[in-house]
Amino acid sequence: MVYKSQAPGKLIIAGEHAVVYGYPALAAAVSLRSLVQLRPRKDRKQIFKSNIHDTKLLKLTVDTTFQFLKKTPTSGFSLVVKSDIPEGSGMGSSASIAAASTLTLLQFLKTKPDKEFLNKIVYEIEKEVHGTPSGLDNTTVVYGGVLAFKKKGENFRFNQLKSTSAVLAKFILVQSGKPRESTADMITNVALNVSENFHILKEIGRITSLFIQNTKRGVFEPELIRENQRLLEKLGVVGERAKSIVHSIEEIGGVAKVCGAGGIKKGSGILLTYHPQIEKIKTLAQKNKWNYFSVKLGVKGAQ
Ligand code: MEV
Repeated sequence: MVYKSQAPGKLIIAGEHAVVYGYPALAAAVSLRSLVQLRPRKDRKQIFKSNIHDTKLLKLTVDTTFQFLKKTPTSGFSLVVKSDIPEGSGMGSSASIAAASTLTLLQFLKTKPDKEFLNKIVYEIEKEVHGTPSGLDNTTVVYGGVLAFKKKGENFRFNQLKSTSAVLAKFILVQSGKPRESTADMITNVALNVSENFHILKEIGRITSLFIQNTKRGVFEPELIRENQRLLEKLGVVGERAKSIVHSIEEIGGVAKVCGAGGIKKGSGILLTYHPQIEKIKTLAQKNKWNYFSVKLGVKGAQ
């Protein structure tokens, strides 16, 4: 018997970092996936293989899941991950791998894969990996769709927005380079200056609320992406390369922003970019040899 599961990646459309402090965020599950296969073994060995991240994440996922279930399997198994989500670039690769792996483990241990339970386990794993995350990444990859999300203490409030395709189908993603820093480092950087940053986080919250209201009404205001990016720059999470890419896109009449934790020493991960004539961004990207791609937003969650 082979147990198979998969989970999507995620993109934060608005509200990263501020979401850690209880402000709203808008995120979407995207059509890049982690596929996981679990094959029981005759001996008691646990074998881990993954094409991205080191296998520590898989070991952590196994240990955390068994702790939650308060049981361990009697036989060993091999857990193999294949993911096409760019690693450490703000697209939820760790949450996606943890969600899909946990699902195979739940099937293996004959436990009903309830989404709320799955989300709790993946949040616990995310805390081990990222320090004090908001829970947005795990919730987005577990439930899927396009989510308006808020952290409330240890709990999450979220709803899936309907019919967002007309508003959100127009982005191109540009790779500004893999950050040197981890998500945990970037969350800590913001936390170290939280009193100075507080008004910036509040303003990101205000813009994100507007973005969510607009999306619900089928309205798209590119200017909000530009404002969100400026605030992320002020917050100190955007590196020089990403700033220069954003600047070039703005010069031709587009907008762009960092998605996720960002990075300052080198790359800042994936940039969400938009132009009313999207071909213009593609041409600019080709000219500058930027790596770009598009994804479908609002896909199904872990299954
Ligand atoms: C990371 O994908 C997004 C952050 O807002 C952290 C979090 O929400 O946990 C930077």
